[in-house]
Amino acid sequence: MEFLDLSIIVLALIFLCLWWRYWPTTGGGPKNLSPGPPGWPLVGNLIQIILQRQHFIFIVRGLRKRYGPIFSMQMGQRTMVIVTDSRLIHEALVQRGPTFASRPPDSPIRLVFSVGKRAINSAEYGPLWRTLRKNFVTEVITPTRVKQCGWIRKWAIENHMNILICLCFGAKISEQRIKEIESILKDVMLITSPQLPDFLSALRKKQLECLVPLIKARRAFVEKGENPNQEMVSPLGAAYIDSLFRLEPDKTRGPLGEEEYVTLCSEVISAATTVEWAMLHLVMNQDIQDKLYHEIVECVGKNGDIKEEDVENMAYLESVVKETFRRHPSSHFLLSHAAIKDTELGGYRIPAGVHVEFYTAWITEDPDIWSDPGEFRPDRFLRGDGVGVDVTGTRLVKMLPFGAGRRICPAWNLGVLHIKLSLAKMVQAFKWLPVLDSPLDMTETYAFTVVMKNPLKAVILPR
Ligand code: HEM
Repeated sequence: MEFLDLSIIVLALIFLCLWWRYWPTTGGGPKNLSPGPPGWPLVGNLIQIILQRQHFIFIVRGLRKRYGPIFSMQMGQRTMVIVTDSRLIHEALVQRGPTFASRPPDSPIRLVFSVGKRAINSAEYGPLWRTLRKNFVTEVITPTRVKQCGWIRKWAIENHMNILICLCFGAKISEQRIKEIESILKDVMLITSPQLPDFLSALRKKQLECLVPLIKARRAFVEKGENPNQEMVSPLGAAYIDSLFRLEPDKTRGPLGEEEYVTLCSEVISAATTVEWAMLHLVMNQDIQDKLYHEIVECVGKNGDIKEEDVENMAYLESVVKETFRRHPSSHFLLSHAAIKDTELGGYRIPAGVHVEFYTAWITEDPDIWSDPGEFRPDRFLRGDGVGVDVTGTRLVKMLPFGAGRRICPAWNLGVLHIKLSLAKMVQAFKWLPVLDSPLDMTETYAFTVVMKNPLKAVILPR
């Protein structure tokens, strides 16, 4: 036998042993993981997924049918457990919240942007996460702060992104600069597939170049009262970044650095895309738009100023927003969770640190939970299968646009308020109609959030 033949046989044997050792559904790897598709040596299911040339979400839908409410996949070195059943999701996130409240290790790509898992969303469950999250909640979304930042909403209600940028930096910056930040952050959110390191470094550099000057300007305002272009409008202490300047999450390493400020502010700015989906349905369903318009007029009049407390009294608006979250959840999965220690779920073992993915979009598509789940029917929240549904999933999980339990979106109230105000103002001021030769397009594309493949086009007429 030639040396080459011998080497190939030895290599094949090593591969086989590794496969047997590490592939959980075939061999001696971690026992009693949930079932899943058998993979190839070392790479697991990764190559099979690439070869299928389908978006991951369609593959997951197929696997759910085949393997049931909880199944595993092996993506190279990464073990993923996918949970799709509303009762199991409730058990993990609410009933046994602390156990599933951590995040798995980041991929090298994500580590660049999370500066070593130091953003709220990526931090492991522990003291750093607790300090950052507590600071965010007390500094950005308390009623006092929401009131102090009322000028931002008034000025920029038609543009969600403006609001969030100003909340972070306390500054009223030009439309062009906002567009620049928006486009860079969109690129950051689109990193769901492996990219060349050069591209990532260039993108991170652009992100830093764009946001660091805002941070420096705010610091000069906070420390020396400098405000050359009168850009700084929020009073001292009222911008999210002001609180980060003071924060020392870890006594041994001192205050956070500029890179960390950029990452922490970026996670706040990268909020959702719900308004565009809601508008699409309002353009497609003129009767729903009319009903909403009548509610707004009844509440504040044709030209009345819509204030934050007004939208809280608009029950139909609330139903439209909830139905939009149900029909178009911003993401199909929550962010990846991880168990803090080896545990079990649904009778299967969940080793600590594996990626636990909650496929929450399935819950809102499940015909056992919702009647005609594909239809856009806000009325279901007034009389029907949506009455009394709790979007935080505390009592029961029927929809989870913000997650549930320890890692629930800390700004979910603020997000809903912005969406309600934007929609109410847009519908009060204009009638939105379809463009005649441009059919409405519901195709979704998958960035970090589910966005419209082709942006909404509509004709708007002043009311
Ligand atoms: C309507 C808009 C929004 C939606 C649908 C949304 C949804 C979500 C979801 C699904 C998660 C992950 C929950 C989990 O992993 O279990 C999350 C986390 C988070 N969201 Fe939101 N979000 C919205 C708006 C916002 C806004 C406006 C901010 C900031 C001002 C924000 C800040 C965060 C942060 C910091 C986390 C990480 C929480 C943690 O890991 O402890 N979100 N959000």
